[in-house]
Amino acid sequence: MARSETQVGIVGAGPAGLMLSHLLHLNGISSIILEARSRAYCEERVRAGVLEHTSVEMLRQAGVAGRLDREGLRHEGIELGLRGQRHRIPFVELTGKFVTVYGQQEVVKDLIARRLADGGDLRFECGTVSLRGIESAKPTIRIEKDGNIDEIRCDYIAGCDGFHGISRSSFPDGALTVYERNYPFAWLGILAEAPTSREELLYMHHERGFSLYSMRSPRITRLYLQCRPDENINEWSDDRIWSELHTRLGCADGWHPTEGPVLQKGVTGMRSFVVEPLQHGRLFLAGDAAHIVPPTGAKGMNLAFADVYYLAEALRALYAENDPEKLRRYSETCLRRIWKAQRFSWWMTSLLHRFEEDSPFDRRRQLAELEYVMSSRAAATSLAENYVGLPLEVSAPIERGAVDHPANY
Ligand code: APR
Ligand code: PHB
Repeated sequence: MARSETQVGIVGAGPAGLMLSHLLHLNGISSIILEARSRAYCEERVRAGVLEHTSVEMLRQAGVAGRLDREGLRHEGIELGLRGQRHRIPFVELTGKFVTVYGQQEVVKDLIARRLADGGDLRFECGTVSLRGIESAKPTIRIEKDGNIDEIRCDYIAGCDGFHGISRSSFPDGALTVYERNYPFAWLGILAEAPTSREELLYMHHERGFSLYSMRSPRITRLYLQCRPDENINEWSDDRIWSELHTRLGCADGWHPTEGPVLQKGVTGMRSFVVEPLQHGRLFLAGDAAHIVPPTGAKGMNLAFADVYYLAEALRALYAENDPEKLRRYSETCLRRIWKAQRFSWWMTSLLHRFEEDSPFDRRRQLAELEYVMSSRAAATSLAENYVGLPLEVSAPIERGAVDHPANY
């Protein structure tokens, strides 16, 4: 059996685990990341693609926004569509802020490269992980691989292993309360090698179901169709997908998405999910391990970054100032932001999707609400300020001398 020690053991190398490890490193705190999958798998997995203003600032302050600043697409608004008409929500005009379109897997690539360049201990394809003694002063991560067992003794463990990870289920029975809502639909998403033909994202309400026009770069578009939760992707030929996209996204002025080879397609379920609290003993949950939002508000990756920002700052205060207060309050601090993002994601989802079970009254009410958002500056401002990202509560600096883009401040 091999034994090692670290200050913070991190399970999972998604955006949450990688960013946490990097922020801890900037604060002189050691960590080891255990990741079940290969590096290539983590770097290629197609996920979300919208970074809040708040997340971009965090990445810049942490000195990992070099490529993001060169290749990320600055989006100063989004469009909402109804009955083939588009209406723009101008973020900069309404809030002074914008969002950046940059794929989650690009963020993951940047963070892995930076962690490795800084000598970080990242263990891909690590084997089977289990957590021991989370209520003790020295919790342990146990890793079993090919008949060998390794143990890592930690001061703290961060469960950043996503929705299907083992960290959440390592809480004792009864320690967690689950809050959850499932939606009676899913998203069928494609990545297409097709030049973008709109500057901004288009969220389209349609009687056949919601549709979204998004992008990853000027050459790559990302498009989604509301579908059944049990939709069989094999029944969707590329032709059928494009035909449905034209029907739902096509606009009265003749605009419709440009076609191109489909690079990837899949069906993503929709759920709202939160566990409380985020901490038990010395185990702290962050990111998708603790909460899932439906993708309509583009909040998933951003919430993961907010959690680890709070966790890194709390651990810094503990180690550098012997102040345990922020760590003690980690769960409640995160949950305040998590619930606001949950509310917004649920609201965007309810506003734009077709709910089969809706009564004629509900349908009329939904249309009235969408028309209100499209015509009222106050309503549009509320959407905009949530979309670009609510401010982080803690204002303490997260960075210790690693800014690579000071000009952006
Ligand atoms: N042992 C080790 N690693 C694990 C285990 C395990 N038992 N279970 C899961 N993992 C790894 C996964 O392979 C994955 O790489 O944990 C990582 C979790 O990463 P994400 O699922 O990306 O979660 P998170 O870092 O919280 O990022 C949240 O991901 O789902 C999207 O929209 C969501 O953008 C948001 C972001
Ligand atoms: C995406 O580009 O994948 C995307 C964009 C906006 C969303 C959801 C997903 O709301």
